[in-house]
Amino acid sequence: MVSDEYRNELSRFISAQRMTDIHIFDSVDSTNNIAKQMSAQGAPDGTVIIADSQTNGRGRLSRSFVSPAGNGIYLSMIMRPKLLSDSISSITAWTAVAAVRAIESVCGIIPDIKWVNDLLINNRKICGILSELYISPNSSADFAVILGIGINVNTEENDFPTDLQQIASSIFASTGTYVSRPQLAAELIKQLDILRADWPDNSLPYLEKYRNRCITVGKEIVVISPDDHRSAVAEGVNSDFSLSVRYDNGTAASISGGEVSIRGTQSYI
Ligand code: BTN
Repeated sequence: MVSDEYRNELSRFISAQRMTDIHIFDSVDSTNNIAKQMSAQGAPDGTVIIADSQTNGRGRLSRSFVSPAGNGIYLSMIMRPKLLSDSISSITAWTAVAAVRAIESVCGIIPDIKWVNDLLINNRKICGILSELYISPNSSADFAVILGIGINVNTEENDFPTDLQQIASSIFASTGTYVSRPQLAAELIKQLDILRADWPDNSLPYLEKYRNRCITVGKEIVVISPDDHRSAVAEGVNSDFSLSVRYDNGTAASISGGEVSIRGTQSYI
């Protein structure tokens, strides 16, 4: 079984104690779904779910995340912060920084961030992040934040579905260098463990790194909401990780949800 090999390899980089809360599967529908089920069963802070493939990998805005076997990292971590404050809306951005740090450390390349949850190399998406909230139907005090990260690691360019080939890439396809999935997954877990310790007070290093890597700022963009598409310029990332924009009519706004696309690139609709 792939998951046994994966576990053996992962345990070269992670302590036996930490491995007890790491669950590895050959195939699941979505590691975020498993994380929610495990949260409902009382799984502790820091529980990790990894799958070699997903049959229903999910992205933001009800999109799917293509998750074939053998070449990607599909990982969810259960986080149980003490309080659920407004700052939780920035957890996706914090997670993006953790993923940038892991890729930088293992692969020696620093991905860009497209606000709010995509990591890019050479303007193509190599990683997406989906953070979700689980709240128990019995008690709102019983909740968990699920950090879901999908990384295209060793995927060959031609292996992406035709409609994604101009948009998506992998670390291997972008750099020509094969990457050990267990080594990168181990570093990602390490960075997410640091994130859990830093949350919510130690925000500044995350904000600095996010601002440093965010390629959306300075670009002409389209702000996409369910009933509107509005042209704007992205002016900066605010301290709460929302995007500061100026619409073409001169009005300023802060965007904290939804989607922006960068105008004039092939990368995104
Ligand atoms: C996006 O591109 O909008 C986010 C993609 C997030 C994909 C990851 S893979 C692990 C976890 N399980 C899922 O079903 N989704 C996330």
